[in-house]
Amino acid sequence: MARVLPLCFVLACGALCAGAVCPERCDCPHARHLLCANRGLRAVPRTPARDLDDVLVFSLGGNYIHNISALDFARFRGLKRLDLQYNQIRVIHPRAFEKLSKLEELYLGNNQVSAIAPGTLRSLSKLRVLYGNSNDIRKVGAECFGNLRSVVKLRLDSNAIEVLPDAVFGGLSGLLYLHLESNKVRLIHGSAFRKLHGLRFLNLSGNKQRSLRNISTFASLGSLTTLLLSDNEIQYVGDRVFQSLRKLTKLSLSNNRVRRLEPEALEGLSALRELLLDGNELSDVPPRLLDPLQSVEVLDLSRNRISSVEPTAFQQLGHLKVLKLEKNQLSSLSGGVFALNGALHNLYLNDNDWTCDCRLLEFKRWMNEAHAQGRLLTVFVQCQHPGALKGRYLDYLNGSQLHPPGNSSHQPCEAPQPAESLAGGLLESPFPGVGLSIQADQGGSGQPKKSHAEKNKRKKPVPRTGSSTGDDHVALAQVTDPCQFNRHFIVNVTVHEVSSSTATIRWSIREHGDVPDVHFRVLFDRFGQAVRFPRFVYVQDRGRMVTLHELVSGATYLVCVEGVVDGAVCQVASRDHCTGVVTLHAGRSGADLQLVTMVMLGVNALLLLLVGAAWAGRYLRRRLRHRKSAVHVRHMYSTRRSLRTMAPAVSNDFTSYQTGRPRMCPIDEGDLIEFPCDRFLDSSGTRRDEASQRFPD
Ligand SMILES: *[C@@H]1O[C@H](CO)[C@@H](O)[C@H](O)[C@H]1NC(C)=O
Ligand SMILES: *[C@@H]1O[C@H](CO)[C@@H](O)[C@H](O)[C@H]1NC(C)=O
Ligand SMILES: *[C@@H]1O[C@H](CO)[C@@H](O)[C@H](O)[C@H]1NC(C)=O
Ligand SMILES: *[C@@H]1O[C@H](CO)[C@@H](O)[C@H](O)[C@H]1NC(C)=O
Ligand SMILES: *[C@@H]1O[C@H](CO)[C@@H](O)[C@H](O)[C@H]1NC(C)=O
Ligand SMILES: *[C@@H]1O[C@H](CO)[C@@H](O)[C@H](O)[C@H]1NC(C)=O
Repeated sequence: MARVLPLCFVLACGALCAGAVCPERCDCPHARHLLCANRGLRAVPRTPARDLDDVLVFSLGGNYIHNISALDFARFRGLKRLDLQYNQIRVIHPRAFEKLSKLEELYLGNNQVSAIAPGTLRSLSKLRVLYGNSNDIRKVGAECFGNLRSVVKLRLDSNAIEVLPDAVFGGLSGLLYLHLESNKVRLIHGSAFRKLHGLRFLNLSGNKQRSLRNISTFASLGSLTTLLLSDNEIQYVGDRVFQSLRKLTKLSLSNNRVRRLEPEALEGLSALRELLLDGNELSDVPPRLLDPLQSVEVLDLSRNRISSVEPTAFQQLGHLKVLKLEKNQLSSLSGGVFALNGALHNLYLNDNDWTCDCRLLEFKRWMNEAHAQGRLLTVFVQCQHPGALKGRYLDYLNGSQLHPPGNSSHQPCEAPQPAESLAGGLLESPFPGVGLSIQADQGGSGQPKKSHAEKNKRKKPVPRTGSSTGDDHVALAQVTDPCQFNRHFIVNVTVHEVSSSTATIRWSIREHGDVPDVHFRVLFDRFGQAVRFPRFVYVQDRGRMVTLHELVSGATYLVCVEGVVDGAVCQVASRDHCTGVVTLHAGRSGADLQLVTMVMLGVNALLLLLVGAAWAGRYLRRRLRHRKSAVHVRHMYSTRRSLRTMAPAVSNDFTSYQTGRPRMCPIDEGDLIEFPCDRFLDSSGTRRDEASQRFPD
């Protein structure tokens, strides 16, 4: 009797309760999930049960495991997810994973693995996610990855890899995301990426490459959409190296040492929407270099040494919306340089070496007209030369203040407009044939129609010239410039109540001294093409709130608050203080998703107007998706939530194990190890759903 009873108990329990499967010190709220993260384990724990085929998830993150033997996982034939991150693993037995033919996710990140023996991963034919990040891997070869055809995402970032040999990823034909950033890669063999025909994302940032020469390197990557090469040491980019990347939409070469791009370096990048070349050593923007980039919308050339831009450099970029040229050495720009960039609305030109002489007159005129049409908001061109104008903004100067350059020994300028008659009418453009045709034909060379601009100008109260002499440090007591007032004092623009036809907007004013006679104007407009702000309301002195009426239901609005100082509003400063509002659908309640707020500091309204609708849509979608994934996470790991309350002793230990350990990302500590946080954040939309479906509770 005494013998029979325990035996029965074991049998019954083996079948029914998780206790028998669960290794000591672990939690197994579910027989199929063994949760042993952060338990101070020094080796993979043994489990008393015989039959472990049903176990799907084995979490061992955040322990002190040193090595993985051939037997550790030999009985987990049904395992789908194995998490070994944040241990001290140095050695993995080549047969350690031999029996895990159903494994789909293997997390080995943040250990001390220096090599993966050939064949170690051979049986993992179902593997979809492999993390080997933050280890000491120095060498990789094709034999490491064998035939991992199902792998979709491979992380090898933060290792010490120096060379990518030929066909190293040859077995990974299903790969979509490849992380190789923060290694020491200096040599990529010409066919290292061969067979990665489906690859969409490649991060090679933070490596040691010095040049991009071999046309074959990226030749197989016809599906690639993102290529990140920032923070390398690239000096040279050869002709046509990117020519096969027909689907590439984002290319980053930020923070390299590029001095010159070969004339055909960007050939083939016809789908590219974002090109980042900031933080390099470029000294000019030559003609034709950018011509292949027909779809480019964002071009970042800031933080270079650019002193000259060809008047025709941007002429093929009809979709260009954002151009960053700040922190260069520009002293002048031809008036027609952006004439053909009809979509351009965000132009950064600050921190250059601007010489405000008559050569900038045409450019100033273009700028004024673009401002007047609301096409272009903030462009800070602050004069460095001549001394008399140092610190002034070009916007606030009038034509007669722009003199011929130097001591008249230089190229003279034309006086293009009788209205703004210029001392010494001079006759030549610095870039002959470009930009100065306005006098003969006002519609020519893409110049906006002038009569219209003039009209707009007259309507707007003009800020007093000279009041903004460039000093960003605002004396609190004497703000008389509405632009500075907006920029420095209006904060916290928020939306309070929204109905289908009204919205209440509030804002705050930073402490200030005597601002004479300030009141506010609230402009609002639907997101759309025309940027008019036809509707606005004035708000009296102390008011910090307004309710807008007669809005259209279910529509997206942009609302901007600006100061009216001494009767003047800011003509050129951005509508920084804006927020988005989505009115409710008539006859429906549930305001949850209807309220969209966003305080845009340093972003101008036009950008918002153009991208606003798209943005709002994406925002809502993202919110929905976030929610979805949040639900999934909770769903998948609902068991773990209760851990701390169930076993306070364990969770106390837990914190002590954790001290001084690297953190993956600052989320709920309980989730820290178990859950690779970026997994749900990357661009693999489809994975998200699959992953959650694969481990139903
Ligand atoms: C694995 O670790 C144990 C102790 O933790 C040690 O005795 C053994 O030699 C190690 N095996 C290898 C191959 O390093
Ligand atoms: C480019 O890579 C291919 C393939 O590896 C190789 O055959 C060729 O010699 C390389 N060309 C140069 C210029 O290095
Ligand atoms: C690419 O790698 C760099 C590290 O060098 C990192 O900062 C960046 O966030 C990575 N980008 C993506 C999208 O993973
Ligand atoms: C213009 O003349 C002043 C003195 O008259 C001189 O200091 C300055 O260098 C001259 N500038 C140029 C560009 O020649
Ligand atoms: C330009 O400014 C000066 C003073 O700075 C002024 O006398 C002149 O009338 C202004 N010209 C125009 C066209 O506004
Ligand atoms: C703006 O909001 C922030 C955070 O909500 C707050 O700390 C700050 O005091 C607010 N500023 C003003 C002037 O109300």
